[in-house]
Amino acid sequence: MSNTYDAIVVGGGVIGGAIAYNLAKRGGKVLLLEKDRLASKSSGAAAGMLGAQSEMDGDGPLFQLARKSRAMFPKIAEEIKENSGIDIGLINKGMLKVALTEQEQQEYKRIMAIQNQSGEQADWFTGEELRRKEPALSDAIKGAMYIEKDGQVEADQLTLGFLKSAAASGVVIKEYVEVYDFQLSKGKVEGVVTNQGIFTSENVIVAGGAWSQKLLLETGLQLDTYPVKGECFSVVTHRQMLSTTIFSHGYYLVPKKGGRIVVGATVMPRTFNQKVSLNGISILLEQAKNLMPSIVEAEWERAWAGIRPQTIDGLPYLGEHPAYKGLYIATGHFRNGILLSPITGVVIADLIEGKPTSENLEPFRVDRLVRQLT
Ligand code: FAD
Ligand code: GLY
Repeated sequence: MSNTYDAIVVGGGVIGGAIAYNLAKRGGKVLLLEKDRLASKSSGAAAGMLGAQSEMDGDGPLFQLARKSRAMFPKIAEEIKENSGIDIGLINKGMLKVALTEQEQQEYKRIMAIQNQSGEQADWFTGEELRRKEPALSDAIKGAMYIEKDGQVEADQLTLGFLKSAAASGVVIKEYVEVYDFQLSKGKVEGVVTNQGIFTSENVIVAGGAWSQKLLLETGLQLDTYPVKGECFSVVTHRQMLSTTIFSHGYYLVPKKGGRIVVGATVMPRTFNQKVSLNGISILLEQAKNLMPSIVEAEWERAWAGIRPQTIDGLPYLGEHPAYKGLYIATGHFRNGILLSPITGVVIADLIEGKPTSENLEPFRVDRLVRQLT
């Protein structure tokens, strides 16, 4: 089989998967290369929240992108089921962003007002209303912002669902193939150099998560990204303790099917160490007990960690390399890569096709920080 493709995607996480899936839908011969196992990094570690409102503090380009992407999930869930048989576990029971202090209540009401003005629904629940809805929550919680549309999925299933659907449409997927370098000539990309030889294409998309920056250094581009480790654990309850996702200062309890609850997540910048620390588990358990004391009755399941790809201005990079035509970058989705995957897949496929994108990608340009410094 020839080693020449219409497009090569580097990275078998949710972002690479979404891009490959969208390229496959539009036809063409696509190759996806993953240096490890598919969905083995951040995308397999994520809690799966679609926190377009709970994870954002105000209006802005990321909020706009996030709310559009969240709206795409019901259709994506159907498509993936049809193409791959995978159920991505979409649950639409909303999210409660809980306030433990008077100051937090004021802050969340301010955010609610901004979101309401943008046309997004968010409602205030008093402590009493909240405990009527979720009786297991702590009496220390004073109130909460209820966000009906912030649902959740099974992140690993979404990732594998994109990838399996892409494969069903003809995308060639190779695990344990690491891209070391690019073949570049006269301001254009011509292919990639890997541990299994050279693969050629005029379109290469770097979706390597927290590892993208290292790879792109080979092209003379210094992306302003850094890794942020996050640890989670899960428990199983034998009676229903929770039905809505609970969110507090970046920590959360996410009720999954079968009585599982995912408790996350720590935030440890600038490390690629994916081991779970006892300190991390202890922090998470304290946070979980503060929110829902009866969590201690649950049965331990497992713990894991992942590395989030963060950028210094908090916006992902979505666009073409400033110096090499055909070399595209889609990374830096930090806490929201699962949420942002459907829209990322579409806009990157639009760019490659040379179509006008449905979204304004100017705020996400790859050279935006370089330009600001000059
Ligand atoms: P990754 O999933 O890291 O995938 C990149 C892939 O590229 C990796 O598999 C890597 O091996 C491969 N790769 C890298 N370099 C090369 C190379 N040179 N050659 C070949 N392959 C390469 N987001 C949400 O929206 N909702 C959540 O609830 C949520 N919860 C999270 C909880 C935790 C604990 C963590 C850590 C993250 C969470 N996130 C969440 C964030 C989300 O997981 C990430 O934003 C998203 O997974 C990033 O996807 P990605 O495909 O860019 O990166
Ligand atoms: N979005 C949840 C996390 O990154 O931990």
